Amino acid sequence: MALSDLLLLGHESDLLSQRGVSCTGALPPESDPDLVARAKIARAALGDRALILGHHYQREEVIEFADITGDSFKLAQSAAAQDSVEYIIFCGVHFMAESADILTSKNQKVILPDLAAGCSMADMATENQVNECWKQLSEIGVASKTIPVTYMNSSAAIKSFTGEHGGTICTSSNAEKTMKWAFTQGEKILFLPDQHLGRNTAVLSLGLTLEDCVLWNPWKPMGGLSIEEIRDAKVILWRGHCSVHGRFSLESVNEIRNRVPGVQVLVHPECQHEVVRAADVVGSTEKIIRTVEQSPAGSKWAIGTELNLVTRLAKNNPEKEIFFLDKAVCYCSTMNRIDLPHLVWAMESLVAGHIVNQIQVREDIAHFSKLALERMLAL
Ligand code: 13P
Ligand code: SF4
Repeated sequence: MALSDLLLLGHESDLLSQRGVSCTGALPPESDPDLVARAKIARAALGDRALILGHHYQREEVIEFADITGDSFKLAQSAAAQDSVEYIIFCGVHFMAESADILTSKNQKVILPDLAAGCSMADMATENQVNECWKQLSEIGVASKTIPVTYMNSSAAIKSFTGEHGGTICTSSNAEKTMKWAFTQGEKILFLPDQHLGRNTAVLSLGLTLEDCVLWNPWKPMGGLSIEEIRDAKVILWRGHCSVHGRFSLESVNEIRNRVPGVQVLVHPECQHEVVRAADVVGSTEKIIRTVEQSPAGSKWAIGTELNLVTRLAKNNPEKEIFFLDKAVCYCSTMNRIDLPHLVWAMESLVAGHIVNQIQVREDIAHFSKLALERMLAL
């Protein structure tokens, strides 16, 4: 493992301890034979007071209890559309629950069943680093021409920075639309924090060149770039990535094409540029599901995204051949932290009148984050 990865892991565990990871010891054991029955009883007791949102990367045992499943855009939209439900139990990761809290009213409570369900990519852009970057861009006269476009996979503080500086949030399903919008507002984009989604969209959807994009390394002065490189760039990409999608390589694409004649490669845009370029179809988790479901029987798909979703696609589409693009098992470890014991614990606690693991974004941060999220929802 590279030193920078170790530093990031250390940083991630700091963030986790700041989030106060605990389940107060009342977590039912995984081996409890009554777990599913307990979940059903607690769910029924909560009735219309609760809504369970489940991201497509959630475990099967959890997704079974989701009232709405979706990609991060659909789940944000679903949260924003709720005005009466008292509790939103968010089976996903921390940044998604934060967005749900920002988009719902004050008396609605968003619960994340395990506070350790973070996202290593979101942790790759901290508030201090982004403020420092903006300060340096301001000093060379570039910030005033630059619009931040921030991937949903970011902390509320970074979303707030984005809203305050005239930018918008994007997800993997609307990155093209949001980047096009940003170019109507300014000359350059600062794309945070996923370099791959930013690069793939800039080059493959907007028709920019790789040379139009530069990579800002937050660990180096001036991002490791010269003033000329920054002034000439159309897109300044933050040096963040997803460690799950980063595993897929051009070799895995070539290998499956050789091994399985007629296979089509379908990947998430968080994959590396060369992988996305070599794929047949690219899209958000929702688009991945739609593409497979709408394909004719006998179709063969090699899918480059998280394993819970690929396994579910294989189960739900038995008349198609579904392959995992990488040979090594590849779950998102933080998405996987939400398991049935945590969901049961969260629901039973609510039934007993105890609100646990509530995600509450500070008022001052929520203000501009909401502005940025609403800009996205309006596009
Ligand atoms: P989607 O918006 O496609 O669901 O992606 C979210 C995510 O975290 C992918 O890693
Ligand atoms: Fe974050 Fe990657 Fe997991 Fe998505 S798959 S939640 S980007 S670590």
